[in-house]
Amino acid sequence: MRDPLKAFEEVGREARGEIVRLTMGPFRPYLVTHPDHVRHVLKTSQPNYVREGMFWDPLVPLLGGGILSDGETWQESRRIVQPLFTTKYVNSLAERMADIIAEQIDVTVRPGEPFDIVKGVAQIVHPTIVRLFFGDKISAEDIARLIPAYDTAVTATSMRLVLPFVPRSVPLPGDRAFRRSIETIDDVVYPRVREGRLRLDDDRDIVAALCRARRDDIGEAGDRRIRDDLVAMHGASTETSATALTWMWVALDANPDLAARVYEEIDDVVGTDPIRPAHLPGLRYLGMFLSELLRLYPPGWILPRKALRTETIGAVTVEAGSTVMLSPYLTHRLEEFWDRPLVFDPERFAPENAQRRHRYAYFPFLGGPHQCLGQHLFMLEALLLVGGILSRFRPVLKTSGPVLPRLASSLRPNRDVQMTLVERGRA
Ligand code: HEM
Repeated sequence: MRDPLKAFEEVGREARGEIVRLTMGPFRPYLVTHPDHVRHVLKTSQPNYVREGMFWDPLVPLLGGGILSDGETWQESRRIVQPLFTTKYVNSLAERMADIIAEQIDVTVRPGEPFDIVKGVAQIVHPTIVRLFFGDKISAEDIARLIPAYDTAVTATSMRLVLPFVPRSVPLPGDRAFRRSIETIDDVVYPRVREGRLRLDDDRDIVAALCRARRDDIGEAGDRRIRDDLVAMHGASTETSATALTWMWVALDANPDLAARVYEEIDDVVGTDPIRPAHLPGLRYLGMFLSELLRLYPPGWILPRKALRTETIGAVTVEAGSTVMLSPYLTHRLEEFWDRPLVFDPERFAPENAQRRHRYAYFPFLGGPHQCLGQHLFMLEALLLVGGILSRFRPVLKTSGPVLPRLASSLRPNRDVQMTLVERGRA
């Protein structure tokens, strides 16, 4: 408890890919890190390992039975939602995304003034996703209500995540804030869904696209399904993207030689022009840098599943009803699969090195049937955001000592980190 990160890293290292049974009071999950075993849980035997149980159940009032559920409701949502994530559809959103991100950078960054990296990045990412999902049909006041409500909904359940064995009937701090945040979310989202039903031909946002896909699924139940998918997609996209992009500035500061390559590439490809989607294919090294960022700082650092049937993974029998925890954070640091795993080295993701890797040694976006749908959208957003900032500014971090992750619902830094964004010519 004194140093949970160190203890967690030690368990992973000492296990060397073997399955370990953890003891957390009465709760005894299996920690699964070997890429072969990860493949078993995520792909080969995926229907046996569902998103239910002590970690997922508290989130049901927020996420409902949509794309982040499991079984039949998930399958139906996946069929509906998947077409919104094809490369073609996502690319069709790119120009609009570039405009929104540029606007958000303008309102958030004050050159030369302190910029809190957790709050500042979230202030760019969250409105970008909301505006992309809801188009221009959402008012500034509703955006201002929705973003903190999501934030509360995600953080208010953290007590239940730390104490997963406490039954739902026993109240815990955060429960009331959680319920109130869901009321606010529903208050904003349902009217947008009802409006979306009336403008099915509008193809500029995700609400209308979801309403089109469910045009035959009418009435309250249909509205609820659209709401569930929207809220779950929002949850899956904002905290993950914002967390990942927070680490960008820490990694640039810690690796000045690699940072110089990133700056040089951006200078060559983007110059001083506003960044546009046409620039992105040229930002090859930045793409590799981002992949390495997600190796060492995967926002979803722990991914719990419940085993439905008793089954053997490797040589270990996992009983029905028990919890299996996957951890990209630990698998991505296994010495058995990564050369000098703690060294930040984007070259690992040069195209010629991809072949040598076990498919499940790297899974920040999961894999198998539940593979993250937002991978391409994230890369687009990340390149536009980082490229948009670095084509105009140079970051100067104000920290003393290393910045480490804090093990919470996602992998944020363990303390406030401030930086100054200095205009490029003056850096
Ligand atoms: C760095 C950014 C991101 C990371 C690391 C990430 C990671 C993940 C992971 C680990 C899962 C599986 C969770 C689980 O089942 O336990 C997931 C699922 C999902 N993600 Fe992402 N995600 C990111 C960004 C996004 C974005 C931008 C979107 C866009 C809306 C998105 C949409 C989804 C959806 C819809 C699912 C559910 C897929 C399914 O179960 O069928 N994600 N993501």
